[in-house]
Amino acid sequence: MAYSSFHCLILFSSLIFNIAITPSLAKTSFKPKALVLPVAKDSSTLQYITTIKQRTPLVPIKLTIDLGGQSLWVNCDKGQYISSTYKPAHCDSAQCKLAESNACTTECYSSPRPGCYNNTCDIFPDNPFAATLTGGGQLGQDVVSLHSTNGSNPGRVVSTPNLLFSCGDTSLLDGLAKGAKGMAGLGRSKVGIPSQLASAFSFQRKFALCLSSSPRSYGAMFFGGGPYVLLPGIDVTKSLTFTKLILNPVSTAGASFVGDPSTDYFIQVKSIKINDKVVSFNATSLLNIDAQGYGGTKISTVKPYTVLETSIYKAVVKTFVKQLPRVPRVASVAPFGACFSSKNISSTRVGPFVPPIDLVLSEGVFWRFFGANSMVQVAKDVLCLGFVDGGVRPMTSIVIGGHQLEDNLLQFDLANKRLGFSSSLLFRQTTCANFNFTSNGLS
Ligand SMILES: *[C@@H]1O[C@H](CO)[C@@H](O)[C@H](O)[C@H]1NC(C)=O
Ligand SMILES: *[C@@H]1O[C@H](CO)[C@@H](O)[C@H](O)[C@H]1NC(C)=O
Ligand SMILES: *[C@@H]1O[C@H](CO)[C@@H](O)[C@H](O)[C@H]1NC(C)=O
Ligand SMILES: *[C@@H]1O[C@H](CO)[C@@H](O)[C@H](O)[C@H]1NC(C)=O
Ligand SMILES: *[C@@H]1O[C@H](CO)[C@@H](O)[C@H](O)[C@H]1NC(C)=O
Repeated sequence: MAYSSFHCLILFSSLIFNIAITPSLAKTSFKPKALVLPVAKDSSTLQYITTIKQRTPLVPIKLTIDLGGQSLWVNCDKGQYISSTYKPAHCDSAQCKLAESNACTTECYSSPRPGCYNNTCDIFPDNPFAATLTGGGQLGQDVVSLHSTNGSNPGRVVSTPNLLFSCGDTSLLDGLAKGAKGMAGLGRSKVGIPSQLASAFSFQRKFALCLSSSPRSYGAMFFGGGPYVLLPGIDVTKSLTFTKLILNPVSTAGASFVGDPSTDYFIQVKSIKINDKVVSFNATSLLNIDAQGYGGTKISTVKPYTVLETSIYKAVVKTFVKQLPRVPRVASVAPFGACFSSKNISSTRVGPFVPPIDLVLSEGVFWRFFGANSMVQVAKDVLCLGFVDGGVRPMTSIVIGGHQLEDNLLQFDLANKRLGFSSSLLFRQTTCANFNFTSNGLS
């Protein structure tokens, strides 16, 4: 396997070092309003990657972002986790209750180390890329340190001593981008990274994701409320459209406790329109979540392209092709099913000139995808519709994936249970790669 992203990831870690300041500054009583992390795209796996500093002494830990993941998890296998400040969460402690863990390891047969203590509760570190289902991993806590932000630049480094996470082992890293040591779970759970940071720093229970479309530049992730300012001075919080976040009462994770709700972020899509034409499929049965947790629409950073249940997929392709007459179709390139000659498609500020695709959320409210988000350039003259077939009875009917999220800012407001989305930032002549990660006088 080729890891052409290697250069970009080296750049990524040097970027972190360039903006790092001495940890002693973090010990002041400074209260950040928000925090920021850079987000890279790994070009070989198409995963979105961030790096946080954890442990004592602090080390940078590369993590794959999992928007719907329950919590942070890292590899704690023998020799992989060294820290003088690690604390296991003892069964029946407030930490285990916060994580809603029903599992307790009474005895672990090895010398004590992170991930193997007696009388410690477990949760499930989930890796959606791994072929096999995972077992439990011990819950623990440790220091995490990251940059505050005023919305425009990174500011001083702050740290929290007790961020809860779970311990995976080396086999659980299967399928993750090269160098990743775990996953950053941003899901709707009390131990999700956004909730924990909001309570550690007493800021708003909001976070935002702005994924860059290029593996050569960094997008950003913000914890806390806005402003979120992108060059040249555009505060994206001022132009968000809102829709409700829906709770799926049934877990959608690889492993969970019986009765756990999903930690994924669901929205209520009512219909799909292409060029204002309604795409015909059984919306009632597919777009609502049933009592078993099937159906509905969620947002995912672990699917590179939006995945549609088969009947929706076929209807979308059919309508799209019909709305794009006079453009010759060419042989399909996997995983896509509808590809076109790009010589016959002109380009615009918001990407290839193709019919816009709308996810209709309520009367007059829709999330519109233009060419930059709907099409994928797979070869010099070939553009494919960037949606994939999810099969006949997937748990979730529509999984909005990474390519469709890029250069859109998404704000998840946990307290008010709503999603704010910007639609394509290209219209506003900016991109998610335009957060100014340079900071004055701090490096
Ligand atoms: C757990 O307790 C058992 C029995 O007391 C002991 O043999 C074992 O070494 C302990 N394990 C750890 C990780 O402390
Ligand atoms: C949609 O699916 C439901 C459940 O399978 C079924 O009862 C209903 O008749 C279907 N509606 C249409 C218009 O096909
Ligand atoms: C598609 O583009 C090619 C090359 O520019 C041109 O020769 C052809 O006529 C175009 N086809 C259509 C249907 O417009
Ligand atoms: C980025 O921020 C730094 C620090 O505030 C500032 O000096 C620099 O001019 C900014 N860059 C751009 C392109 O505005
Ligand atoms: C944010 O911080 C940067 C550097 O610390 C500073 O240059 C800039 O003026 C600040 N911006 C605002 C809006 O406060």
